Amino acid sequence: MKCRICSNHTEIFISFGKMPIANGFLLEKDFKNEYFFELAAVFCEKCFTVQLKNQPNPKLMFHKNYAFFSKSSKYMQSHFQKYAEWVNQNYLTSKKPFVVEIGSNDGILLENFSKKKIAHLGIEPSSNVAKIARKNGVNTEVNFFDLRFAKNIVNKYGNADAILAANVICHIPNLNEIIKAVQLLLKKDGVFIFEDPYIGDIIKKVSYDQFYDEHVFFFSALSVQNIFKNSDFELIDILPQETHGGSMRYVLCKKGIRKISNNVLKIIQREKKMGLNKKSTFNKFKKNCELSKKRIQIMLKDFKKKEKKVVGYGATSKSTTILNYCKIGPDLIHFISDTTPIKQNKFTPGMHIPVKPYNEFIKYNPDIAFLFAWNHKKEIENKEKLFIKKGGRFVCHIF
Ligand code: SAH
Ligand code: TYD
Repeated sequence: MKCRICSNHTEIFISFGKMPIANGFLLEKDFKNEYFFELAAVFCEKCFTVQLKNQPNPKLMFHKNYAFFSKSSKYMQSHFQKYAEWVNQNYLTSKKPFVVEIGSNDGILLENFSKKKIAHLGIEPSSNVAKIARKNGVNTEVNFFDLRFAKNIVNKYGNADAILAANVICHIPNLNEIIKAVQLLLKKDGVFIFEDPYIGDIIKKVSYDQFYDEHVFFFSALSVQNIFKNSDFELIDILPQETHGGSMRYVLCKKGIRKISNNVLKIIQREKKMGLNKKSTFNKFKKNCELSKKRIQIMLKDFKKKEKKVVGYGATSKSTTILNYCKIGPDLIHFISDTTPIKQNKFTPGMHIPVKPYNEFIKYNPDIAFLFAWNHKKEIENKEKLFIKKGGRFVCHIF
C-alpha cells in the first residue's frame, strides 16, 4: 500500500489476522453481525512511520457508545493534571489564552484548565464521553477534528495558543489534513503538543497489543520530523512519558519561533541506534511477537491442565489483539473484570469472553489474573495487595 504520509510504496511486516473492533464489547445477540478486518502493519522506509494497512471507518469506532473513559485510571488523572500545569507554566504566556484539545474524551485534561477559568475547547466525536466532560464544566464540541471543523472553530472562537492531544493523533488516518487544520487554528506563536504510545517502547517490550484498529500510526521522533517536514512546523522538544506502557510527547511550533531543545537530537540519535529507521528491526519484532504468542498459549494451557482459576484484569482495547491473535477464549480465561459499566455484562470482541464487574473478581477469588491493563500495573498492584498476599498471581505477555 501507499504510505499515508509520503505516498511511498510500503509492504506488510506483520499481520495479526482477522480482528474485530477493539472496543466493540457486545451482547450475545450481536455475535452474528460482528465486524472483522485484517489487522496488519506496514513500515515506510522513506518517512519511517509504522502504520496499519487497513483501518475500519472511524464511525465504527468512535460513537455514542464509545467504551473507553479516560478517567477510569487515577494515575492517568494525575498524569493529565501535571500535563496541564506544565503547559500552563511553559506555553500559556498571553493575557487571555485559549487552549484546544483534540480527542478530549471525558475532560480528563481540560478540566484542569476549566477549573482555572482558562478559555478552552474540547473536540470529541464520541458523544457519551463528551457528555460527561460537559457535565464537569468542560466546553466540548461533538465532532471529528478535520480541516473543515478547524475553520468553524476559528470563526466561532478565534485562534488557539495551544492545541493539545493525547492518544489521538495516532488514531487519525488523514494526518496530512490534520496538520493543515492545526496550522490554520493555531496562533502564529502557538504550540502543538501531542503524546502517543512510542514505537521504541513497543519494539523493546514486544507490546504488540498496542496494534489495534484505533492506532493507525505508531510514531518515533524520526517519523514525526518527517511527517512535519513539508509543513510550517518544526519539532522543538520531545519528552518521554511512562503512560500507556511508554509514550512520547512531541512539542511543535512554527519554524524559527522557539529554541529547539537538545532532547530532539539526542532522542533521534538513540532511535537510529535502535534501528527505528530500518525494516529489519520490524521483521525481528514480528519474530518476537510469534515467540510471545507461543509462550502465552503454553502458559495458559498449563494453567488449564492444573485446573487453576484464571481470569483477566481490565478489558482493555489492547486485550482484543492478544485474545484474537493468540486465540484465547473462555476455556482459558473464564471472565475479565473491568470497572467500566458500559463493558460489563457484555462479551469481549471476537473471542467472546464474559466481562464482569470488579466485585466478581473479588468474589471468585482466582489463582491467576492475566493483567491486560499492564500499563496500570503499579496502580493495580497497589489496589490488589490482598489478592497477592493470598497467593494470587498476575501474569502478562510483557514480563
Ligand atoms: N485524550 C484521551 C482520550 C484518548 S482515546 C486520553 O488520552 O485518555 C481517543 C479519543 O479521541 C476518543 O475519545 C475518540 O472519540 C477521540 N477521537 C477519535 N478520532 C478523533 C478525531 N478525528 N478528532 C477528535 N477526536 C477524535
Ligand atoms: P487502558 O489500558 O487505559 O486502555 P486501552 O483500552 O486503551 O488499552 O484501559 C484500562 C481498562 O482497565 C479500562 O477498561 C478500565 C480498566 N481498569 C480496571 O478495571 N481496574 C483498574 O484498576 C484500572 C486502573 C483500569
